[in-house]
Amino acid sequence: MCGIVGYVGSRQAKTVLLGMMLRLEYRGYDSCGLATVETGVNLVKAATRVQDLADRGMEMPGTYGIGHTRWASVGTVTQENAHPFMACDQAVVIAHNGNIKNFAELKKRLENSGHQFSSQTDSEVIAHLTEEYYQGDLVDALGKAVKELDGPFAVIALHPDNRRLVAAVNGCPIVIGLGEGENWLASDVPALLEYTGRVFHLEDGDIAAVEADSVKIYAKGRLVSRANQTIGWAPEAVARAGYQHLMLKEIHEQPRIIRNIIQRKQSAWLPGDSFGETTCGVLLIGCGSSYHACLAGKILIERLSGIQANAELATELFDVTGSTRRYRAVIGLSQSGETADTCAALDRQRQAGFYTVAVSNVPGSRITRLAEQTILTDAGPEMSVAATKSFTAQLVTLLNMGLALPLKEPKRALDLTGELRALPARLQRILDREDAHASAARWLASFKNIICIGRGIFLPIALECALKLKEITYIHAEGCAAGELKHGTLALLSPVTPVIAFMGTDETRAQMLTAIREVKARGVPVLAIAPEGEEDLEDLADRVILLPRTDPLLQPVLAAAAAQMLAYHAALSLNLPIDNPRNLAKSVTVE
Ligand code: F6R
Repeated sequence: MCGIVGYVGSRQAKTVLLGMMLRLEYRGYDSCGLATVETGVNLVKAATRVQDLADRGMEMPGTYGIGHTRWASVGTVTQENAHPFMACDQAVVIAHNGNIKNFAELKKRLENSGHQFSSQTDSEVIAHLTEEYYQGDLVDALGKAVKELDGPFAVIALHPDNRRLVAAVNGCPIVIGLGEGENWLASDVPALLEYTGRVFHLEDGDIAAVEADSVKIYAKGRLVSRANQTIGWAPEAVARAGYQHLMLKEIHEQPRIIRNIIQRKQSAWLPGDSFGETTCGVLLIGCGSSYHACLAGKILIERLSGIQANAELATELFDVTGSTRRYRAVIGLSQSGETADTCAALDRQRQAGFYTVAVSNVPGSRITRLAEQTILTDAGPEMSVAATKSFTAQLVTLLNMGLALPLKEPKRALDLTGELRALPARLQRILDREDAHASAARWLASFKNIICIGRGIFLPIALECALKLKEITYIHAEGCAAGELKHGTLALLSPVTPVIAFMGTDETRAQMLTAIREVKARGVPVLAIAPEGEEDLEDLADRVILLPRTDPLLQPVLAAAAAQMLAYHAALSLNLPIDNPRNLAKSVTVE
């Protein structure tokens, strides 16, 4: 939520900053702005998209500056509420990502001492507070200002008197990109890829002083060093590469990504039973699509290993589970690795003594830094707001993790190896059938409400399908356990509220057929998504999409890809902003 960027070097900062802001727009696209410094501060902001601002072609000389893309949290979407904020003429300028809970009292105090505010935001207090403390040393001033903030923040500040950028973080990300005679700061790695792959993340409590030729990090007032890492992502990985939307490109990347994941053998990751007899299996936590992957992961791990697994929404995991259960490991799933709810919940578990494992797509992200062990999903940067390739990469990574445990039936690993090898080609066959998905999607797009049903390992896919539809088509969609329909949801169904039914190849097949018959008996339109061999469904359902048939534990990966294609094409037919749906931001860095 909100993307912040900074540049100091010899290039024209305006061009660099606007490019970086475009790469971070998935973090917020309500409004944007930037400030550069030559002899004085040039500041431009507007309640528009970054490209619209760039198209204005404004004169903004200067070789250092900061920029911001906003996801509104405090204060409506207006030019006044867009960042950066300058405390007064030619003074401290800041861009902020986070949530300052005590901003009202700070604002009152600053107003009483003569500061004039121009916005309704919480962020503006940081500019005034830093200005209040500023006596020529921006590191000292920002350091004192952030000590007074209650809540998560990542902030980049500049002052026209100093050719440097100063950043501070607590609970929100800033990654620093290192160059020769120039350096960059950003909320996330994709903004830096065009320039450098040599990066490091700031830790909570760090204050960074970034100049063209040096980067100094202070923690608790002392100079410290942070280990650099090299990001292997190519700059092209964040471009549309000829696709109409990033989402479509990311959907089409899945066969290659999955081929890479299955070539990687997962080593042992579950530690011994440190709590003795009271220990039960593993707990998986995440939000949104990552939570749906947790639900599937629970089933994958239990079916393969017999180790008990539970899945919980990170947003609902308030207490440390240690009081009631003892897990051998708590696994936090997060594509971005920055989701505040997941990081906070995993951190609470870690502090309570549980062994923590991060499953993330972003090397060096917050969750990977707080967990004892990291398993990367390696799906490459995901830029479209709706999770696609990261979700199927999570499913296959969790399957690999299941296979790395002592197996209930060792022969199972052999069966799965062959099926896994064939998975990318089967996935490709689904993606090649764009027309079939587009036609079903146009039909779906004519409804106002849709219910997605599944059983067993297909319930998470039904939930994920509903989430994809909600996010990018704005159609009201609900995921529902097929067996639960007759316990209430059936009342919602009618000829204008269709059902998407995900059929599996496992023991749930017969029950799913029963559910579809019950739905059809009430005149409800049904789109069935089923493996090949279920051609008879064409007599029962209104529309059928047949997918290549594979092992029951891999079938959900194929069904997920079909769900993504349906949602994509439905949104396309409705002419909606697929990559940047309204009100959403990709990386949710506040709880
Ligand atoms: C859905 C989606 C979100 C994320 C959720 C968690 O398409 O993108 O629901 O899955 O915000 O994000 P991560 O996985 O980054 O923790």
